[in-house]
Amino acid sequence: MVDKIRALFVVGARPQFIKSAPVIREIIENHRGIKLIVVHSGQHYDPEMSEIFFRELQIPRPSLNLHTGSGSHATQTSAIMKRLEPTILRFKPQFVIVPGDTNTTLAAAVTAAKLEIPVAHIEAGLRSGDIHMPEEINRRLTDHCSTLAFAPTKTAVANLNSEGLRDRTYLTGDTMVDAMETVLPYVQRRQGAVLEQFQLNSLRYVLVTLHRPSNVDDPTRLRAIRAALHRLGKRIRVIFLVHPRTLERLRRLREMRQVHAGIILASPQGYVETLSLIRNAACVITDSGGIQKESFMLHVPCITLRTSTEWPETLRNHANRLVTNPKTIPSKVLQVALDEDLRSQIRRLKNPFGDGRASVRVARILERALRNLN
Ligand code: UD1
Repeated sequence: MVDKIRALFVVGARPQFIKSAPVIREIIENHRGIKLIVVHSGQHYDPEMSEIFFRELQIPRPSLNLHTGSGSHATQTSAIMKRLEPTILRFKPQFVIVPGDTNTTLAAAVTAAKLEIPVAHIEAGLRSGDIHMPEEINRRLTDHCSTLAFAPTKTAVANLNSEGLRDRTYLTGDTMVDAMETVLPYVQRRQGAVLEQFQLNSLRYVLVTLHRPSNVDDPTRLRAIRAALHRLGKRIRVIFLVHPRTLERLRRLREMRQVHAGIILASPQGYVETLSLIRNAACVITDSGGIQKESFMLHVPCITLRTSTEWPETLRNHANRLVTNPKTIPSKVLQVALDEDLRSQIRRLKNPFGDGRASVRVARILERALRNLN
């Protein structure tokens, strides 16, 4: 009997659970020759940032949790590396798989590469061009440490080519499309209850999520954003899903009470609930990469509070707009939220993120590469 080939899949932060779930499921169901060991770095640890996604996406709990938790970039990244190295030595995988662009991604890629274990990067080749973004550093370094780079879009392929990484690059499509398609029937069933829970009417509210250091770590900017949301809240219902980092920064500013006036503050929601809230929103305000894309795929106009995006495809036909000055948020949002034509234009746009079979391609290429190593 041939020994199973071993692959270690390292996840740790909320978006990674979502984009990894279809690949994990595909490997478990259709690639039985691969023994998959899922390791959780512990970067995200609150139940609503971690546990809930394993349940909703119906994937097995990780075999191991390194419980590294929060800290500065160096503290967090090095803690993951230190705890992961003995884990890799113990399991002796033939491949280490890393999704996305978080500190967990970078830590796992560097640790594996230095142990001369090949690295497969899911969602490779994204570039915002903004090196001040921690994720941009993580993406670039991870791609250059990888043996296999799974690109979600043609733009990502072009980025990898331009950095001399053509030989390792595969255009697979985006595994988040696969994840979203799997849960859409549940969204269809749950969305009414979700809207009722928050007393919202479809197309009559704006959904907000913000967590990037560039928006929430600077008290002056955070105050300006809070004031803008407060003004917007006088014109249209606003629901703000508050990420733990943002909650902590607002508490530090003692701004919770002011934020509360006019807008609904809620804790981070599960995947089905979040998609339900995006799908029915008149407009989304965010700084998350994943939510820009989910809004695009659900045909909802998006305002992104950033100077750049790693998903330039979403900017087509103004489906997504980059806004930097918080003062202009209310006018920009009201302009797009009430624009029926814009919505129908977005509906007609082709989905550039793939056909929902990215995870099938990723698993197939991975198995072939693993067999060639043996
Ligand atoms: C991380 C990723 C980011 C991703 C985001 C999704 C990096 C550099 N950033 O940012 O790319 O978009 O996850 O959410 O890896 N906290 C909790 N409970 C938790 C997790 C975090 O309270 O379960 C708090 C802690 O105060 C922590 C802060 O949130 O210090 C930030 O968490 P961290 O994992 O460092 O970065 P995120 O902002 O979540």
